[in-house]
Amino acid sequence: MTDSPRKIIIDTDPGQDDAVAILLALGSPEDVEVLGVTAVAGNVPLALTERNARIICELAGRTDILVFAGCDRPLTRKLVTAEYVHGKTGLDGPQLADPTMPLQEQHGVDFIIDTLRHEPPNTVTLCPLGPLTNIATALQRAPDIIDRIEQIVLMGGAYFEVGNVTPAAEFNIYVDPQAADIVFKSGIPIVVMPLDVTHKALTTEERVQAFRDMGTEPGRMVAEWTDFFERFDMHKYGSNGAPLHDPCVIAYLIRPELFQGRQINVEIETQSELTMGMTVADWWGVTDRPANAMFMGDVDADGLFALLSERIARL
Ligand code: RIB
Ligand code: CA
Repeated sequence: MTDSPRKIIIDTDPGQDDAVAILLALGSPEDVEVLGVTAVAGNVPLALTERNARIICELAGRTDILVFAGCDRPLTRKLVTAEYVHGKTGLDGPQLADPTMPLQEQHGVDFIIDTLRHEPPNTVTLCPLGPLTNIATALQRAPDIIDRIEQIVLMGGAYFEVGNVTPAAEFNIYVDPQAADIVFKSGIPIVVMPLDVTHKALTTEERVQAFRDMGTEPGRMVAEWTDFFERFDMHKYGSNGAPLHDPCVIAYLIRPELFQGRQINVEIETQSELTMGMTVADWWGVTDRPANAMFMGDVDADGLFALLSERIARL
């Protein structure tokens, strides 16, 4: 008897790498059931992230997916976006038609709260792929849901890889450090996919060619999105390909054995502007602070891309 698929809510700021993560989820119905997609301001403003989320679901042939708009700015800080990486639309690369599927009326945060209140306790996993504003707002507005969340598997943070938007901080955490602080102190079981892992998931030429060789519209789109968004990081890091961050979150739900990490203490810098948004990870256990997060350090990158190719080819 195979386990039933895990119920998840994807919270996202598409972003080409978010798009690949969402396609992986929608190509894996036996492993994950997407209850809804909530957009948040991050890579680009909310009006674009919610539009992009609908474009991605339509590309996967899943106009039935419920897409919601969430928060349009961080809890307290000014919104910082990343058009320099993702382009003006957030999904630059291929030409994209406007979406036709509807955006849900309900606010994304209310959808998260209602879903967690109605689904049986500890049966829904939250998968944040962008700043944690929607998640933290939901926890603040409805503390009763904290004990009902099965797990939070998120992309964010960095330790050995240090920051990508400042010398100390990774983008998702940097955009809303106060939100991240609330989530990391919530006591909810958290799995973190930091840059330490995602910088090992590089879009090499042969991996991108595998998407192109699918001969499908999703495969072509993923290849063209990758061709666009990898140019910034390849120039910056001089690497053979760019890190494909967000799909690590969904791949963990499907094949956790692809990843290695440690259950350690992770706290968020929210005071100093110099290190604002840094994930202070006690990787070597030098404090007695509570081990609040499974912080990943390694990934089988070939296995990850084999999974991506297998599942996206299904769409
Ligand atoms: O730092 C990488 C993260 O920031 C990814 O989630 C990317 O999509 C951007 O949101
Ligand atoms: Ca993202």
